[in-house]
Amino acid sequence: MRTHRPLALAAVLSLLSACQEPLSAASNDAGSLPPTDTGTTAQGITSDAAATGDAGDPLTEERAPLAYTPEGCMHRVSSLPGTINNVLGNRTVFGPMPAPRNVHTSWPADPSSTIAFVWQTDSQTRASVVQFGTDPMMLDQTALGSVSTGGLGSTEVTIHEAHVCGLRPDTTYHYRVGGEGHWSAVQRFKTAPAAGRTDYDVNFAVSGDSRDNFTTWRQVQERVVMGTQQPDFQIFTGDAVLLGTLQGAWQQWFTGAASSQAVMPWMMAHGNHDALAINYLMQFAQPQVDAPEQSELYFSFDYGPVHLIFLNDTPLRDDYAGNVAGTQLTWMRADLTRARANRARVPFIVAVHHKPCFGSSRHSSTTDTVFVRTTWAPVFDEFGVDLVLNGHEHDFELSKELDGRGQEVSGRRGTRYIVAAGAGAQLYELQDGTPRSWSAYYESVVNFLRIHATMTRLEVTPYRLDGTIIDRGRVSLTPRPM
Ligand SMILES: [Fe+2]
Ligand SMILES: [Fe+2]
Repeated sequence: MRTHRPLALAAVLSLLSACQEPLSAASNDAGSLPPTDTGTTAQGITSDAAATGDAGDPLTEERAPLAYTPEGCMHRVSSLPGTINNVLGNRTVFGPMPAPRNVHTSWPADPSSTIAFVWQTDSQTRASVVQFGTDPMMLDQTALGSVSTGGLGSTEVTIHEAHVCGLRPDTTYHYRVGGEGHWSAVQRFKTAPAAGRTDYDVNFAVSGDSRDNFTTWRQVQERVVMGTQQPDFQIFTGDAVLLGTLQGAWQQWFTGAASSQAVMPWMMAHGNHDALAINYLMQFAQPQVDAPEQSELYFSFDYGPVHLIFLNDTPLRDDYAGNVAGTQLTWMRADLTRARANRARVPFIVAVHHKPCFGSSRHSSTTDTVFVRTTWAPVFDEFGVDLVLNGHEHDFELSKELDGRGQEVSGRRGTRYIVAAGAGAQLYELQDGTPRSWSAYYESVVNFLRIHATMTRLEVTPYRLDGTIIDRGRVSLTPRPM
């Protein structure tokens, strides 16, 4: 998990100012409870600094960091600066509301062999157990997680996070979290197929920008999981909630996503409204890269025939250029260099970030968008990124096949850009009444994507909320010639 710096509220608000979108009051979860802890060390976890929080007095909250390597894993898990009462979980200590909430999974490392379970309880519960197995009637394996509390005042949240490694590829696992007498429902996830196969046949969904209307959000997610062939996992393109510090909005977001999160892992791209908030950072467990201030905000992994690279286009304002055009760009070029060299095994490269380089709606000319466009689009072109998935503009839009300056290519492959946003956020119209020159198709509509990939083809099918296909937004790509 994390090594981030928590943000002051002023910094959070500054992240949103470029949006020029009004902030309205949102309800918060009430009530944090006094911390208490047993200091019990979880079995099977190697801890460098197991914190042992004092019981009772909030003024003596335990702020010691926690860093450990989960059993059988190659990656480390570190508590977030600014969080309190960071402890390894146990099997026995329950607070007044121990029933797990917002239970979901994501990949902290290789998706074919690892998984992270994340859930919320009251601040006193230290029982942090996962039972899992390939038979839903026999959850015969166990792991313990860690517990952290963070957030501003009444938005405080207590999060459990358990990591498991050494899983079998291409296998459905069933699991429940909590502890004896306080288990969640049994949910499931599937690991990615093993590397190096040639018979890949994978599916994933893409949605984004849920933040204004959580009824629409829930309907989108119910539509995503409808039918017999469900996606293997889901990508979110950012802006889950109006303001990432508001835990009440996160509760509504998780409730809306529950039908999908019960059956598949999710991977998140950070949006400006998520505001680098501690609530966002705590509630998603994603891969760390070697960049402490941005850990879990940009990362990459291979899923079958697709290399997925997630980027963060909302760095701290005082580090904006230094990150977008500096630290992150250096990492991104190194990652894409490796991905390009591995095309024979993983033929497609897909980038995911929030602010579209090439959209036609209200953010298409803002300073931050132009900076991301002029900095990253030439790199996508240079390394032959096949597809870029974005949010931020509340609509559906497919670009032409473009070079790094947004010109339509001829005689060679370019990059396709797709905006998949507006899964609850108020829809946007075209900025100038007409699509920009780089646009192939635009529709102001609630939408989500399904992407199907094999070694020889990657197909994108966009859907409206009613389940009809946005036909002119379909894309079918073959591997680039090597
Ligand atoms: Fe947005
Ligand atoms: Fe946004």
